[in-house]
Formats: sequence, structure tokens, C-alpha cells
Amino acid sequence: MGEVKATPATGKLGILIPGLGAVATTFIAGCIAIREGLGQPIGSITQMATIRLGKRTENRKPHIKDVVPLADLKDIVFGGWDLFEDNVYEAATNAEVLDQRLLDKIKDELSAIKPMKAVFDKNYVKRLDGPNVKTGGTKMELAEAVMADIEKFKADNGCERVVMVWCGSTEIYIEEGDVHQTVASLEEGLRNNDEGIAPSMIYAYAALKMGIPYANGAPNLSCDVPAMVELAKQTGTPIAGKDFKTGQTLMKTVLAPGLKARYLGIAGWFSTNILGNRDGAVLDDPDNFKTKEVSKLGVLEEILEPELHPELYGDMYHKVRINYYPPRGDNKEGWDNIDITGWLGYPMQIKVDFLCRDSILAAPLVLDLALFLDLAKRAEMKGIQEWLSFYLKSPQVAKGLYPQHDLFKQFEKLKNVVRHIGGEEIINHLGLDYYEE
Ligand SMILES: NC(=O)c1ccc[n+]([C@@H]2O[C@H](COP(=O)([O-])OP(=O)(O)OC[C@H]3O[C@@H](n4cnc5c(N)ncnc54)[C@H](O)[C@@H]3O)[C@@H](O)[C@H]2O)c1
Repeated sequence: MGEVKATPATGKLGILIPGLGAVATTFIAGCIAIREGLGQPIGSITQMATIRLGKRTENRKPHIKDVVPLADLKDIVFGGWDLFEDNVYEAATNAEVLDQRLLDKIKDELSAIKPMKAVFDKNYVKRLDGPNVKTGGTKMELAEAVMADIEKFKADNGCERVVMVWCGSTEIYIEEGDVHQTVASLEEGLRNNDEGIAPSMIYAYAALKMGIPYANGAPNLSCDVPAMVELAKQTGTPIAGKDFKTGQTLMKTVLAPGLKARYLGIAGWFSTNILGNRDGAVLDDPDNFKTKEVSKLGVLEEILEPELHPELYGDMYHKVRINYYPPRGDNKEGWDNIDITGWLGYPMQIKVDFLCRDSILAAPLVLDLALFLDLAKRAEMKGIQEWLSFYLKSPQVAKGLYPQHDLFKQFEKLKNVVRHIGGEEIINHLGLDYYEE
């Protein structure tokens, strides 16, 4: 056993969230409810997972939180920004995800969390408009205002450390351009109000400039451009993005590796969803949906490698649809029809009907990303944290690398990084030594 490579998680950790909507309020209310013994942190690796250490004969399987120093739930303080003025109790009530009786039990704590004024521009989220918005000034001045908010939050709440997780709406599709290439071009763009800089980038810039870890839960670029990676390295800041991997894509990256492992062919994969929350309303706009579509379509290619196996996957038709359907609220229904082929090309079908709860699936991911990014910071890890791709639909990776989407490869990577930080041996599953005389 080696030395733990991270400093202890002392003092309070602030988790700051741009976008106090369904996901963020379900996350915050959930953490407070769990803290009060009103529920279990189901779906959270940091709270529930155990990890095998050493050889199988040693039988060591502690909790991850006992292998690496993670911030305790009781030491977390929550805050955030939104263009609507509702406090977290009101926003959680409007989101209609959690039972009102549960929310009422923790009403005082939730009502005390009021959104700071957002950096918002309707051009990037066409279906929304709200009053709680910072006005005037250049994009650089807006970034400075976010930094001032963070300083004030830290001081008011006595936080030792802060992390930021973007839970704001999905912004319109933006391609990486010249302004995103270097810290210098990004800063120039911030001063000149370059339209390639979306609000999510202004928050990300503010966080990274201050050395605050940043995760992006939506599919918009945000910190996934060279300039942000350069800035993260300069300021010694860990980053992770993008787009929480929760419902349909989670299932896809579970099923596809299984089909691929058996070398079964896939002729087509049709995925459609109905959802009726605010996220669904935003994604009803084609420019915003395009961002999500690109993120959702990416996962199969890397897992199936059609270029190596054209006879199995070369002609696969992959389609993803999201339909806004208000009656379902946050309770999304996702259907998948998978046309597969077996021995001699005989066709078969798999149908998946996932009646999920979007924010219930996303909330533990916010917690894990925040706690692991805080750990990474204390372990002096900077730049892209590929080991957190386990949580993301469209993982950010180093230039020249392709992302890995297979959930099980991602989980192995995460666990090996935990072992590495915890000063434990990396496990490669070779296992031949158990059979040596
Ligand atoms: N729930 C899931 O399973 C899931 C999975 C993957 C990604 N996401 C993404 O997570 C994000 C949040 O989802 P949600 O269901 O909570 O949506 P939501 O619409 O309920 O919440 C988003 C909130 O962000 C606010 N907002 C938008 N732009 C902002 C800005 N510039 N600054 C501050 N606040 C801003 C909105 O007012 C809204 O309250 C979305 O982008 C969604 O696509 C969610």
C-alpha cells in the first residue's frame, strides 16, 4: 500500500450550480434529505460503492469514500444562479420531481438558497426568458461579476473550497471556432462580446480562472474547447464534460458493449423519447436539440467500430428523437428498438421501454462529479479528468484521443484512478498468478 495522493477534505465545500432547475433542485433537496436521514443516496458511487483492493485472496472491499478522502455530505453548502427568482424550495416544487411532503420537511433549508443573478442571453436558449439576469457590460465584465459572486459566496458561507457543476439549460449548437483556441483569443473574445462565447463559457471561464473545478452536465461546449483546457492547466484546475449520461444513453452504453462482445450485428437502432419538463421545452427548439442530438448519436460508433466490422455494423441506421410532451413532466419515457442480426444474418429485435425519472437519475451524478472533482483538485490533478467519463454522454478527452463510451470500461478506469489516488495497486484482471503452482 502506498501513500494517499490527496490532501484531506477539511472544512466546508461549496457546490455552486448555474441553472437551479429540475436536476439541480433534485440534487440539492436530495442531499439535504439524505443528511437528515430522510432517504438513501441511491445511484451515487461516492456514497454507496465499494471497491476491491489488492488480490482477490485478500478479500478487501472497503467503500470508495474510505479509500480516498471525499468531502462529507454534512460539510457541503449549496448555491447557484438562475434567470428565475424562485428559491430552491419553490423551484423544486415547480419541477414536480420530489414529493411535496418531503420538500416541506426541509423547506427552511431549501428556501434559504436563493439564486444569484444569471449570466443569460436568450439567443443561446431560445425558449426561455427571465428577470433574474445580470445586465450591461462586456462578457468579460460578466465573468468578473460571476467571480465576485463566488468570492462572496465563499466568504458568506465560510467555504474552504468550491466546485461548479453546470446544470443550466442546453444551449444552441456552437462549433469550435478561432475564439476558442487559446486563452488569449478567449479573453479577447470576452472583451469583444464574441458571439462564439455562450453564457456557459462565461461561468466556466470564471471558475477556471479562480482554480475552481468545473463539470458540464449539458451537451453545449462550455469547457470542451482548447482555450478552457489550456486555462485549466494554467490554473491547476480539473474539468469534466459533457452531458450527464442518465437514461437512454446509459442503457445504450450498457447494451451495445454486450451485443458487440458477442459479435451480434446491428442493422438499426431507433431511439425516441417523450418528456415534458422545462428541459424538454428547451430541446423542442431545433437549434438546442441539435446540440443534444450530436451528443446522443456519438456513443455507438466508438463501441461498435463499424470501420473494422462493416458486415456487422457498416449499414447501421441510428436515429434519436426527443419529443416534448407536457403531461409526462420529468417522468420521461424512452423507447429503443434495436434490429439485430445473428448467425447467418438471421434478424431479431430487442425492445427497451425505460420509464425513467430524469432528474432522479441525474442528481447522484451531480454529487459524484462534484466530490470527485474536489478530490482531483486536492490530488493536484489538472485539466481533463477522463476517468469521470463514466458520468458523461460525450466525454471530453485529450486531443487526438477518441472517447470511450462503454460503461464498464469507464467504470474500471474510474476505479483504477481511485486506487491510484488511494495509494493502492492498479488492478488489470490478468489473474494468471492464482493458477501458478
Ligand atoms: N435530467 C437528465 O437526465 C439530464 C441528462 C443529461 C443532461 N441534462 C441536462 O442538464 C441540464 C438541466 O436539466 P434540467 O432538467 O434541470 O432542466 P431545467 O430546465 O429544469 O433546468 C435548467 C435551469 O437552467 C436555467 N438556466 C438556463 N440558462 C441559464 C444560465 N445561463 N444561467 C443560469 N441559469 C440558467 C433555467 O432557467 C432552468 O431553471 C439541461 O441542459 C439538460 O439537458 C439532464
